[in-house]
Amino acid sequence: MAGTTPDLMEKIVSLCKRRGFIFPSSEIYGGFAAVYDFGPYGVELAKNIREAWWQAMVREHDNIVGLDSAIFMHPKVWEASGHVGGFSDPLAECRECHTRVRVDHLLEEAGVFADEKMSEEEINALFGENKDKIVCPKCGKKSFTDAKGFNLLVKSNLGNFTSDWTKEPTYLRGETCQGIYVNFKNVLDSSRVKVPFGIAQIGKAFRNEITARQFIFRKREFEQMEMQYFVRPETAATVYEEWRAKRFQYYLDLGLKPENLRWHEHENLVFYAKAAWDIEYRFPFGFKELEGIHNRSDYDLTQHTKFSGTDLSYRDPQTNEKYVPWIVETSVGVDRTFLAVMTDAYTEETVGENDTRIVLKFPKKLAPVQVAVFPLMKNKEELVGKARGIYEELRKSLRAEFDDNGNVGKRYRRQDEIGTPYCVTVDFDTIGLGEDTSLVDTVTIRDRDTMQQTRVKIADLKNYIGGSI
Ligand code: GAP
Repeated sequence: MAGTTPDLMEKIVSLCKRRGFIFPSSEIYGGFAAVYDFGPYGVELAKNIREAWWQAMVREHDNIVGLDSAIFMHPKVWEASGHVGGFSDPLAECRECHTRVRVDHLLEEAGVFADEKMSEEEINALFGENKDKIVCPKCGKKSFTDAKGFNLLVKSNLGNFTSDWTKEPTYLRGETCQGIYVNFKNVLDSSRVKVPFGIAQIGKAFRNEITARQFIFRKREFEQMEMQYFVRPETAATVYEEWRAKRFQYYLDLGLKPENLRWHEHENLVFYAKAAWDIEYRFPFGFKELEGIHNRSDYDLTQHTKFSGTDLSYRDPQTNEKYVPWIVETSVGVDRTFLAVMTDAYTEETVGENDTRIVLKFPKKLAPVQVAVFPLMKNKEELVGKARGIYEELRKSLRAEFDDNGNVGKRYRRQDEIGTPYCVTVDFDTIGLGEDTSLVDTVTIRDRDTMQQTRVKIADLKNYIGGSI
C-alpha cells in the first residue's frame, strides 16, 4: 500500500511484546484473534492516555461531567440505537471452501480499494463488478457468493429471566455512548448541568470484527473515550466546528507530530447524521481513523424516548421552552491512541560508528516511567542505599523505577526502549567516596533524547525533571 511501512509495524509489535507493553491474549493457548492484553508498561501508558483525555475533557470544562455506565444494558437499547438492525460488515462466502471474508478486504487484496466510508450497497456493487479478480485467501478459487451483512454486536447469554432471553438476547455494548444517552435524564436531574453540557465516559466496547488485522488498531474488545455534548438544535453546527478545532489541537498538545495528523470528511453520512469528520493518524499501514467527531442531530434522544417511553426532551429553565437537544459527539479509542503514540515515539538512531539504539520518544506526561534511578554498582551497599533513598523520594510525585540490573549501558538501553525521559545514576562522588568532594550529594542525570549527561544536586532533581504523576 502506498505510504505504508509494514516493517515499522513489525518492529512495534515486537518491541511491545519484548518490553511488556502488549501481549497477545491467551498466548500459551495459541492466542485469541483480535484480543490483546496490556503488560506492565502498557497498562501504565494506557492509564496515562485515559488520564490525559479525562483531564482535557472533564476536568478542564465546567460543563462536562463524567459517567461510568455498565457494559450490560437492556436489550431494547440496541434496537433503539439501530445496532440490532444495521450494525454490520459485508461478508462473502467462498463457494468451494466456505471461508467467510470481509468484502472490502477481498477487494483490497485484488488491488481494488473500497473507501471505508462506502455504503454497503456501494461495496456490494464494487464487489460484483470485480468478482473475476477475487481469489479466496484459503483455497485460491474464484467463486464467491454475493455479500451479506454480518452483525457486529457480541451476544451474551447473561440471564434475562424476566423475559424470553432466547428471543431477546443481551449484548456486550458495541459503543459506550448508549450508556450516556440512557442516563441523560439521570444526570440532568441529579447535577447542576444546563444545556449546553457534556457527559464523558471511558469504557470497554465489544464488536465481532470479522478480520483480525493491524494489531491493536481493530480489536474485538477495545476501549472508547466518548463525550456527548447536548446543545440547542440551532447551535449544533457552530458547536460542532468548535469541537472539531479543540479535538485536533488536543492531539498536538498531546505531542503527536502535526505531519502525522489530518482530517477526513465522511461522504456517505448515516441518515440521521448532519456532519461527520475523522481525525486520521498516519499509522504504519497508512492514514486511518483515530477519532470520529459527529453531529448526530436529535436522533439518539428521540429514539430512546420512542423505545423506552420516557420523555428525554429538555425544558429550558429560563424560557420554559421544551425541545430535544442535538448531540455533538467526540469518540476515540484508547487502543488507537496507544498505537498512534507508539508509532509517533518509535525511533531508531545510529550511535557512534555502527551501533543503533531504539528509543521511544514519548511525551514526558505519557511515559510509563518518567525517571529511573540506578546505583553505579549493585554490590556496593552505600551506592544502593543512596539510590533507593532517591528513588523512594521521587516516586511520591513521579512515575519512578529503581534499576540495578546489568551495567549502566544496558540499563540505558532498556530505559530507552520503554521511553523513560530521565535516568539518574548514583556514583562514588555522590556518596563522598570519589575524588571530587564538591560532587557529594549530586547525581548524573541523562536525557533520553539528547543522551547528554548533567550533574545535578539531589535536592534539585524534582525541579529539573519537572512534571508530576
Ligand atoms: N459512538 C460512535 C462510535 O462508536 P466508531 O467510529 O464506530 O463510532 C469510534 O468508533 C472510535 O472507537 C474510533 O474512531 C476508534 O478510535 C475506536 N474503535 C472503533 N472500533 C474499534 C476497534 N474494533 N478496535 C479499536 N478501536 C476501535
